[in-house]
Amino acid sequence: MQISSEELRSKYLKFFESKKHHIISSASIVPENDPTVLFTTAGMHPLVPYLLGEAHPYGKRLTDVQKCIRTSDIDSVGDASHLTFFEMLGNWSLGDYFKKEAISYSYEFLTSKEYLGIPKDKLYFTVFAGDDEAPKDNESYEIWKSLGVSEDHIFFLPKENNFWILGSGIGPCGPDTEMFYDTGKEKCSEECNPACDCGKYLEIWNDVFMEYYRHEDGTLEKLKQQNVDTGMGLERTITVLNNLESVYDSEIFAEIKQKLEELSNLKYQDNLTSFRIIMDHLRTATFILADDHGITPSNIGAGYVLRRLLRRAIRHLKKININDYVLNDLANIYIEKYHSVYEELERNKEVVFRELEKEYHKFNNTLKDGERLFYKTIKHLEGNTLSGKDAFKLFDTFGFPIEMTEELAHENNLEVDIKGFNEAFKEHQEKSRTIDAGSFKGGLADSSEESTKYHTLAHLLLATLQEIYGSDIIQKGCNITSERIRFDFNLDHKLSDDEKAKIETRVNEMIKTNTPVTFEEIPYEQAKAEGAHGTFENKYGEIVKVYTIGNLSKEICGGPHVQNTGVLGHFKIIKEESSSAGVRRIKGILE
Ligand code: GLY
Repeated sequence: MQISSEELRSKYLKFFESKKHHIISSASIVPENDPTVLFTTAGMHPLVPYLLGEAHPYGKRLTDVQKCIRTSDIDSVGDASHLTFFEMLGNWSLGDYFKKEAISYSYEFLTSKEYLGIPKDKLYFTVFAGDDEAPKDNESYEIWKSLGVSEDHIFFLPKENNFWILGSGIGPCGPDTEMFYDTGKEKCSEECNPACDCGKYLEIWNDVFMEYYRHEDGTLEKLKQQNVDTGMGLERTITVLNNLESVYDSEIFAEIKQKLEELSNLKYQDNLTSFRIIMDHLRTATFILADDHGITPSNIGAGYVLRRLLRRAIRHLKKININDYVLNDLANIYIEKYHSVYEELERNKEVVFRELEKEYHKFNNTLKDGERLFYKTIKHLEGNTLSGKDAFKLFDTFGFPIEMTEELAHENNLEVDIKGFNEAFKEHQEKSRTIDAGSFKGGLADSSEESTKYHTLAHLLLATLQEIYGSDIIQKGCNITSERIRFDFNLDHKLSDDEKAKIETRVNEMIKTNTPVTFEEIPYEQAKAEGAHGTFENKYGEIVKVYTIGNLSKEICGGPHVQNTGVLGHFKIIKEESSSAGVRRIKGILE
């Protein structure tokens, strides 16, 4: 059987619609309610509040295809199976049906001629074996059997295999049952079963029975409702069902592959790593740039991941002899392929092109010089480790993400002294902090009542800017006197009068909520996990002060602050100007 991504997507949604599920569109690629991660890594991210009991506007049965990004395996991209972007098909019961219906639906979709029509003997299943926290899932076993699956196609497996939770290890979770496709290869041993990674059995779907919540302290609690969360990775499933060697052999990548072959005059088969890195990273970058969160390449958070993806793709384009600017043409292949499913790709096309071009030109200028320096340095290297200082120079002067320097080093059978790099990085930060502290003298040190108000105002201003322009907005500098605030932040355009008015209105709304300002002193990692904004200055293990203003703002900050937003008065912007490239400066007063 041959099946395309379009066909699988539409069959899946149609099937579940016929089972009274409402089709919802994919949420953003950035999760709104999980500050512990930069990107949506699974279909459940956007639905967490509903799994916990909140009513969903479209009811208790939903189906969707969710854009996901997982970058933990970014270094493995280039092999046959790893991708940083993927689509996750899912059907959801929010306290509605449970195991019986979920399993019956899965089996019908997989085997019915109208849908996937997979021969029954090609399918294998695993269920949770149970432990001292949660019981053995005999119920799922019996349900599979009642549908006609023979006992030797069902395996009980432990928690490592059959209990699903998000990567953070905290949140809604539960035992799952997984569905595998038998590729027909020989068993690797007598014991070979679906848990074996020899490649005989490939997982295509899981049904998670989400009836627990894992707390941060490790305890497991029963949820108020029993949910179902299923996940079928689209790229993986079409690869398996079409008996392809690699995800990159699917029709999703056919056009870009052909284009790269044309542009480079090289064959994909002879340059697998570079081709795959380019195909994968550009797809992910296109989706990130088109997302309404307005993420752009930067040196922190999601913006840094984007920068790494793009710079790595640019380097590999040059490796396969593509020296002209082709990023827009390549991104456009994906925009054309996906825009009927993800309309934001078309709507934000110009942003995608503009940002790709900007990042390309920024990096293209330094890439050659940086590579030259790298090769010159390694020529005279004693031993096989590039020093932290050299790696830092490549980062600081030539914009080489450290991971790229590591990749270059590995290509030349070398290592990088990462510890030394981190030390050089820290030393540099300390130096620039001393300079900053010096230039802010008289501002930050002043803790008069009036200045204190401006400190709190800075938090509301940042929160407002993030609300309006996206979570990538960061404070680039702040200077406070008892008469005014000067606040710098990253933004690529001049503020219009309307934008200024919008910012003023929102800050004043926040002030008028009369929200108490509180603080706690907690370890840095906890502060980050709770979503506190802060600068690079803090280190893991350090105890930091976190100021919280209701649900408006949470920032790592030394203070001092007022006790309630209500005392701030009325905020007014008196000037807006450029501070440096890509950085705007607002001067404002409290009246
Ligand atoms: N259904 C959970 C997941 O695979 O993402």
